[in-house]
Amino acid sequence: MSRLDSFINRMVAQRACLNFIAGQVNGPTLTEPVLELGLGNGRTYDHLRELFPAAPIFVFDRAMRANPKSAPPEDMMILGDVHDTLPAIRPRLGAGARLVHSDIGSGVAETTAPLVRFLELTLPSLLADGAYIVADQPMQVPTWHPLPLPEDIADGRYYIWRYER
Ligand SMILES: C[S@@+](CC[C@H](N)C(=O)[O-])C[C@H]1O[C@@H](n2cnc3c(N)ncnc32)[C@H](O)[C@@H]1O
Repeated sequence: MSRLDSFINRMVAQRACLNFIAGQVNGPTLTEPVLELGLGNGRTYDHLRELFPAAPIFVFDRAMRANPKSAPPEDMMILGDVHDTLPAIRPRLGAGARLVHSDIGSGVAETTAPLVRFLELTLPSLLADGAYIVADQPMQVPTWHPLPLPEDIADGRYYIWRYER
């Protein structure tokens, strides 16, 4: 499969998974926090703010390199390494985040694997009961229950879990 095909498949999977969750939580009325891990160009952030217009969306990245049209409000853009910024966000989350979208993989196994281990350990304490986690990387947390992917999305292309204490 060419890198172009692989890229397109990933984008299609991201959109399908995020749309699926918006249906689960009644996206337009959601007012609980959403976490976007990895702003990048800002494409998925832009999609999240369309799906969840009333939700506070906390956006994490090392730097703001997004298209200016996808720039989060200053107080919602959490700049720095997630190893520092994620634990520090807990006091701003109230009863916890309802959705985490993690798109933070770099394609380099040596850096992505330890980052995934960190997220497995850190994210549970940031979640509301019943929260959804949508991610580009496989993760294993005993309280996260994998959900089937939307129709037409191949297994392993993206991941969805529901958190139950
Ligand atoms: C694949 S891109 C995100 C793409 C984005 N979802 C979009 O739609 O444009 C991954 C992003 O994660 C960020 N990232 C990777 N590791 C990080 C870390 N440890 N702390 C903060 N940001 C990190 C990178 O800077 C990069 O912008």
